[in-house]
Amino acid sequence: MPTITLHTKTFVPYIDEGKIQARIAELGKEINAEYADKNPLFVGVLNGAFRFASDMMRQIDIDCEINFVKLTSYRGTETTGKISSHIGLNSDIEGRHLVLIEDIVDTGNTIEFLLENLYKEKPASIKVASLLYKPEAYHGDVKIDFTGFEIPNLFVVGYGLDFDGLGRNLNGIYQIELPQTVKYD
Ligand code: IMP
Repeated sequence: MPTITLHTKTFVPYIDEGKIQARIAELGKEINAEYADKNPLFVGVLNGAFRFASDMMRQIDIDCEINFVKLTSYRGTETTGKISSHIGLNSDIEGRHLVLIEDIVDTGNTIEFLLENLYKEKPASIKVASLLYKPEAYHGDVKIDFTGFEIPNLFVVGYGLDFDGLGRNLNGIYQIELPQTVKYD
């Protein structure tokens, strides 16, 4: 993976495609075992999770359904976003086993907002699968049930994640360049 430039920032290789796919295969096995005979409803959170959701589905071999939600938020210069609503989930979720598919849990605002709203519709259970998780950034109580990779509190792009619109198409994950940046092993 080469170093890349998006807008004015340099990003260095961090997690390559092979590691991502291998980890998703492991998570898929766990989910297949846990949700056999439960017909889970996967809920992908757009835009960032579109690739993770798609590759996750390739690993799921039990009966299941998938739907997507998109959140609207207002972001200022602060890193935290105030989420105003979610659109797109038109399935009846009462009594269903939900698995939320997120690209990354950073401040946790998104996942907390979604859980709070989805629980109102009385699903049987909700678990969270997130490809990336920044434990240093998240100080809340939500448990990430299926985590791809725990990463430090640094900005990353690629594999669905963007920097100001760019980078979602990259097959690997890249980290913003810092003097001490190290590869994920
Ligand atoms: P939250 O702060 O946990 O609510 O994350 C909100 C959203 O911000 C995530 O779903 C990502 O789309 C985006 N995000 C958070 N951290 C990063 C990052 O390091 N790179 C790119 N997008 C990010």
